[in-house]
Amino acid sequence: VRRLTVPAIAKRKGGEPIVMLTAYTARMAQLLDPHCDMLLVGDSLGQVIYGLDTTVRVTLDMMCAHGAAVVRGSYRSVVVVDMPFGSYEASPEQAFASAARVMKETGCAAVKLEGGVAMAETIAFLAARGIPVIAHVGLTPQAVNALGGYGARGKSQAEHDKILGDAKAVADAGAFALVIEGVMEPLARKITESVSCPTIGIGASPACDGQVLVVDDMLGMFERVPRFVKRFDDLAARIDTTAKAYAEAVRDRSFPGPDNLYIPKD
Ligand code: KIV
Ligand code: NA
Repeated sequence: VRRLTVPAIAKRKGGEPIVMLTAYTARMAQLLDPHCDMLLVGDSLGQVIYGLDTTVRVTLDMMCAHGAAVVRGSYRSVVVVDMPFGSYEASPEQAFASAARVMKETGCAAVKLEGGVAMAETIAFLAARGIPVIAHVGLTPQAVNALGGYGARGKSQAEHDKILGDAKAVADAGAFALVIEGVMEPLARKITESVSCPTIGIGASPACDGQVLVVDDMLGMFERVPRFVKRFDDLAARIDTTAKAYAEAVRDRSFPGPDNLYIPKD
């Protein structure tokens, strides 16, 4: 199978919905790859994999290690790696150096960064130099300390107008797709109608050109998830049951059984 390309994704505006999930490990990438168009190595790995309370302390080293694993585990999907907080905001040059390192060390096809108007110049700089960029507007978790929490954005008219302006600015700057996170539904719909690149929603709108979720949220690995997550499974409960079964088998010596042992023939 030939891997999908960034231009093929960009052409999906208004077409067949783009299917995207996060992935952080090679094996999960292998399992998700046949079903997805894009795999996102999200900086959500800070919480999901490393137990951090926000994404602010995620490093380029972490993104490179997990990005490389996901590229190795996938054949078909476009792999996108998140630029972590502090690796791109200072200048277009800083962003280029960080994004180039991510692409060289992982083999990913694109990067994603958070921000609107303030990042437009940087997005144009990267796009002009061969780095496809997905922008991320609305609820931008790296700004949690400034925003004061993870509540939905775009409730006030001022915030609505600000986010719409952000979306238009990053699309005009050359982002090939746009993640819209945690905004009022009508705003996400309006952004999708207003920009020429595909929009990918998470807590956004079914009108978006695609959807993304954090895979562990979608699988039901966490008890508490935001409203915008649908838990398609209850893996946490299944793992609990399975670990209990293992523990019992060890304690009552029913594991390892004959099938699990190297027994000499004579
Ligand atoms: O880090 C992440 O997983 C993300 C998605 C939720 C869009 O940015
Ligand atoms: Na992210």
